[in-house]
Order: sequence, then C-alpha cells, then structure tokens
Amino acid sequence: MAHVSASVYTSHVPAIGAALDLGKTGEPYWQKVFGGYEFSKKWIKQHTPDVIFLVYNDHATAFSLEIIPTFAIGTAAEFAVADEGWGPRPVPKVVGHPELASHIAQSVIQDDFDLTIVNKMDVDHGLTVPLSLLFGQPEAWPCRIIPFAVNVVQYPPPSGQRCWQLGHAIRRAIESYDEDLDVQVWGTGGMSHQLQGPRAGLINTEFDKAFLDRLIADPAALAKMPHIDYVREAGSEGIELVMWLIARGAMSDAPPEVVHRFYHVPASNTAVGHLILENRR
Ligand code: DHB
Ligand code: FE
Repeated sequence: MAHVSASVYTSHVPAIGAALDLGKTGEPYWQKVFGGYEFSKKWIKQHTPDVIFLVYNDHATAFSLEIIPTFAIGTAAEFAVADEGWGPRPVPKVVGHPELASHIAQSVIQDDFDLTIVNKMDVDHGLTVPLSLLFGQPEAWPCRIIPFAVNVVQYPPPSGQRCWQLGHAIRRAIESYDEDLDVQVWGTGGMSHQLQGPRAGLINTEFDKAFLDRLIADPAALAKMPHIDYVREAGSEGIELVMWLIARGAMSDAPPEVVHRFYHVPASNTAVGHLILENRR
C-alpha cells in the first residue's frame, strides 16, 4: 500500500523564484534565505518520494475571481507552469499522478470532504517556488506531483480545524491506495506577511516561532485557532499558514521526527519558515 513518509513545510515567496531564475542566489541577501535550504536539498536527494501531494494556494492565476474552489485536487496527467505577468518561470512542467489523484478524490469525497476535481490547471509560484527550493533547477522534476489548491486569497478561507481533519482524510486515502508508493505531503505558503493595506509589511516573529513549535508538538490544539487570529497576528496573507495543517494532519498520530527547522526574516515581504518532519518507521 502507499504510505506518507514525511511532510515538508515552506514559504513560497515569488521573489525567491526570481532570485533563482536570475542567478542571484549568491547575493548576501539571498544567501541567508537559501542557506536554510542547503540541508533540505541533500535530504530530498536521499528521500525523493514517488509522489508529492503538494498543498498550495493559487494566486488568482488558474482560478480567476469568477470561480473560487475552497479545495481543488489536480487530477491531470500534467500541469503547465503559469505566466504570472513576466512570462512563465523557466522551470519544468509538473507531471501529475492521475490514478492516485483520482483515488484520493474518490476516498476523500466519500469521506465527507467536498473537493473540486480539476482536470486542467496551470500552476503558479505557490507550487513552483517550493519545488525549486528543494530540487534546485533540474531538467525535469524528479517525481510525480499532485497539486492541491486551497483558497486562502478570497474571503472566507477554510478553518484550521477543517484543514487538519482534511489532512487525516488524505492520509486515509493514501494509505488505502493499492500500490507501494512513497508519498510526501507538502504544506506551503506563510509565514507572517501582509501585502496590502495600512499594515502592509507586517511580520510577527513571536507568532511564527510559536506556530512552528505548536505545529510540531500540538497540532490538534493549533488547529482550533480561529482564522481571525491568523489575520490579526500573522497578517492578511499569513492565513496561508492554514495549509500547513493539511500536511500536518496527513502525518501519523505518533510524534514525528523533526529533521530540519529554519526561520528567517525577511525574504521580500515575508517571514520564511521551513520544516521537514519524518514519520517514524
Ligand atoms: C510575497 C509573498 C507571497 O506569499 C506572495 O504570494 C506574493 C508576494 C512577498 O513576500 O512579496
Ligand atoms: Fe502567497
């Protein structure tokens, strides 16, 4: 059967993608950011999964404001890299896993979570920047990727509790797939940042560090935090952090092994957080 081996959490700041694509990773400003991913790049080489179930948010790229699914699972064979205004990032196309994605859709929907099924979708920096941070700039991504888009852009976002429970349903779905696949679940976005309005530029290091602690050690209690606390404490775009609870909810109930932890301010307008958690075998 398939199993979840690990979860990875990371910010998706678009300027990180631009720094990579434009060869700026050696600049002192960016070295401090990329330094936090050196370990992760080695780790992923030794722990390349068969499939990444990648929880991210679309930034009005694939979905305009005309149709806004709360949870959308990508069931296509491949996903093109979106043009976000400066041309598509020069990164490989994303190859999906339609069989596993369809199985997860079937299992999770029958488990009472009403997903939107998406058979054609372009993917933006929310998905490509986390891949670049871990895999660098390969000719092709080294595994299959199932995109799972969550609405955290247009009010109302899903609650942390809903995301946490959905993570459990995703775990049950993966563990009932009849092929021995190593699956990682990634939670992306965050940490604290606000890009708009009078509080633009907001960063809350104390909140972020406590969030990392609680995500590791007491995710069930963290899941009860209402969305308004995210917005007040971590900024309007800090709400992206609810997506980390989906990945955390897909982990085993036993305490995970913390393989890597990194936190840095700033990257563009955002506090960068990054965790790798392994399930104990
Ligand atoms: C920035 C961060 C984001 O999460 C995003 O989607 C766009 C911009 C930033 O820090 O500039
Ligand atoms: Fe974002």
